[in-house]
Amino acid sequence: MSLHISAKPGEIAKNILMPGDPLRAKYIADNFLTKPKLVSSTRNIFFYTGTYKDKEITVGASGMGCPSIGIYSYELYTEYEADCIIRIGTCGAYTKKLNLFDLINVDIACSESTYAACAFGYKTDRFKHRGNAFDVINTTAKELNLDVKSGTIHSGDVFYRTEKGKPAIVKKYKALAAEMEAFALFANARYLKKSAATLLTVSDIIPTHEKISADEREKALKPMIELALEAVVKM
Ligand code: HPA
Repeated sequence: MSLHISAKPGEIAKNILMPGDPLRAKYIADNFLTKPKLVSSTRNIFFYTGTYKDKEITVGASGMGCPSIGIYSYELYTEYEADCIIRIGTCGAYTKKLNLFDLINVDIACSESTYAACAFGYKTDRFKHRGNAFDVINTTAKELNLDVKSGTIHSGDVFYRTEKGKPAIVKKYKALAAEMEAFALFANARYLKKSAATLLTVSDIIPTHEKISADEREKALKPMIELALEAVVKM
């Protein structure tokens, strides 16, 4: 047990898939894992452990934003035996060069967030993925004939902004898309010398306001979920 996760020792796998939404974690467990067991439901943040193609895997939610994923990933890395966390989520594209349903394997996450400075004294405003998960995802994508882009994304603290146009940090690092969690996950992984990757599906195009509809979401996320699971099998 950790403060925010009630799984017993040994009930969390070494490799973890982490969507933002607890019901997405349940959907993945119910539809993709063999013999999933609910190992934590503290605050309704569900964690399930089961197998995929005989590989043990945990799928559990991060909640939204750097503070939330910061807590869950830190406890998984430090109080359980987690080696690698792959965040799977959605993002808003800053550029019309990206299309709805595109997949992004995040190379670098930049942020105005004070998370890494407050937690660890880091002065930098961007962190890279860590470990081999990023490369395994790219090679697995090739084998599955999936087109996956990689680059820098922006982990913002604000979903609803008054400012028109791109935030300064997005221009500075030419960030492709907005989400809200990868920065804290990568900062934790760097500090704790663990592995972390983030795989995103483009769910909206910020300049044109195009969006994947609520009905399309489940189907839209399937390639990302399968890619992440297949990558874990190889790790
Ligand atoms: N901003 C932040 N997070 C997101 C977005 C966005 O536009 N779309 C999906 N997740």
